[in-house]
Amino acid sequence: MEKDQLLQPRQSDQPLEILILAAGLGTRMKSGQAKVLHKLGGLPLITYVCRTAQLLGPEKIYVVVGHQAAEVEIAVQSEVSEKAEFVTQTEQRGTGDAVMAAQTKLENSDSVVLVLSGDVPLIRTETLKSFIAQHRGSDAACSILSVRLENPTGYGRIVRDEDEQFVRIVEHKDAAPEEQKVKEINSGIYCFAARQLFAALKRVKPSNKQGEYYLTDVPQILLADGERVNVYLHSDAREVSGVNTRAELAEFENLLRRGTIRKLMIEAGVTFLDPSHAYISSEAQVGRDCVIYPDVSIEGKSVIGEGCEIRSGTRITNSRLGSGVVVKDHCVIIDSEIESNCSVGPFAHLRMNALVQEGAVVGNFVEIKKSRLGRGSKAMHLTYLGDATIGENTNIGAGTVTCNYDGKDKHPTIIEDDVRIGSDTMLVAPVRVGRGSVTAAGSVVTEDVPPDTLVAGVPAVVKKRLKGSEK
Ligand code: UD1
Ligand code: CA
Repeated sequence: MEKDQLLQPRQSDQPLEILILAAGLGTRMKSGQAKVLHKLGGLPLITYVCRTAQLLGPEKIYVVVGHQAAEVEIAVQSEVSEKAEFVTQTEQRGTGDAVMAAQTKLENSDSVVLVLSGDVPLIRTETLKSFIAQHRGSDAACSILSVRLENPTGYGRIVRDEDEQFVRIVEHKDAAPEEQKVKEINSGIYCFAARQLFAALKRVKPSNKQGEYYLTDVPQILLADGERVNVYLHSDAREVSGVNTRAELAEFENLLRRGTIRKLMIEAGVTFLDPSHAYISSEAQVGRDCVIYPDVSIEGKSVIGEGCEIRSGTRITNSRLGSGVVVKDHCVIIDSEIESNCSVGPFAHLRMNALVQEGAVVGNFVEIKKSRLGRGSKAMHLTYLGDATIGENTNIGAGTVTCNYDGKDKHPTIIEDDVRIGSDTMLVAPVRVGRGSVTAAGSVVTEDVPPDTLVAGVPAVVKKRLKGSEK
């Protein structure tokens, strides 16, 4: 083996470091919020890029932050913890300047640096793996991932000579009319040899229409130095498209949603009456033989069991449904759980860890907050149950309210098994209704009701014992 080869490790041995650019505001979004924090499928754009980056098994993931740095860091950290490191770009002076922010971390390393944009969410791990492999297999100082676009407006163009050899990247705004006709564009995804990258970056000048330091000037500088630059033309343009405007964000949303729903239909056996009007998070699970009506949203990490029927206008967020659950029209179910064979709605609102147990029924205009409705119990009409624990086979009459708030503190209500709460009962918490008891219509219950007792009135008093002598 020659001495040179011993000193210079082959690229395939070199560690991989990833650099994600996420400091820009994203002027074209016309937003007060940094672009990479805008949500796609309920998750910030940057989350997708971090996930993909993580799957490549890099040494480190550097994220260049600037606009809303703190918020971007939180979004990154919730996806990649130990491996992420942040570098700050104080002033957004272009993509070249953004990479420069990582200079002290990377300029003396022998790594392959994969540069990704925080605003290119749909890039697939497999695509990047083969891109990196091709880069490693060559002796190039830089590899560029390109695609052909029918409408390349706004993107940097790949300029080639008569022999189809790469010459340079020219940004749309700086391109001559002839160059603007080029349909092959720069995806903004690159592999660089770390040392060469930073050596060339130092020579980038902001001499362009935007007065910015362009990372896209680096390949041309490397070529002039006699380094090799490769361009890999990728076939799937969607995958490497960036989100620059809200119109593009909406297109991505649509694309992602269609993919999720298709997968649920083909792989999970879920029926959608109108797949184009269902909104299911890519993180949600829906069991086989569920039937989803139009205008249903299932958000976050919701889990829906088998054979559920979910009617129109319902939103389910970070909630869990057992099997055979029927959710009638226009329900809002947030951070809650509905066990198997329950029926909920129409127009029900469950929130803050509401728990509806096996076979229970929740009817129309019923709100359940931080409460448990036991097995086989029913609350059919116009009711508020807050901070309440309700046993099995209990019936909550129409218009019942747990008066859980005294203006300062919240108090619990406990209703035991086999209770009948009469219509329009007010339960002034803290209060307990013993098993087998009944409250008459219109009762205002201010004191605990013993088991097997009928109470009535305002305030409610004991009328009779229900078990024993009278029977
Ligand atoms: C860039 C490329 C263009 C390519 C396109 C692909 C340059 C000069 N142009 O253009 O050739 O076709 O991506 O999507 O690189 N950022 C910073 N700091 C800055 C500026 C940008 O961190 O000072 C980040 C942004 O947050 C974003 C990424 O870099 O995540 C790309 O920036 P953006 O302004 O969207 O670049 P494009 O104009 O799309
Ligand atoms: Ca962009």
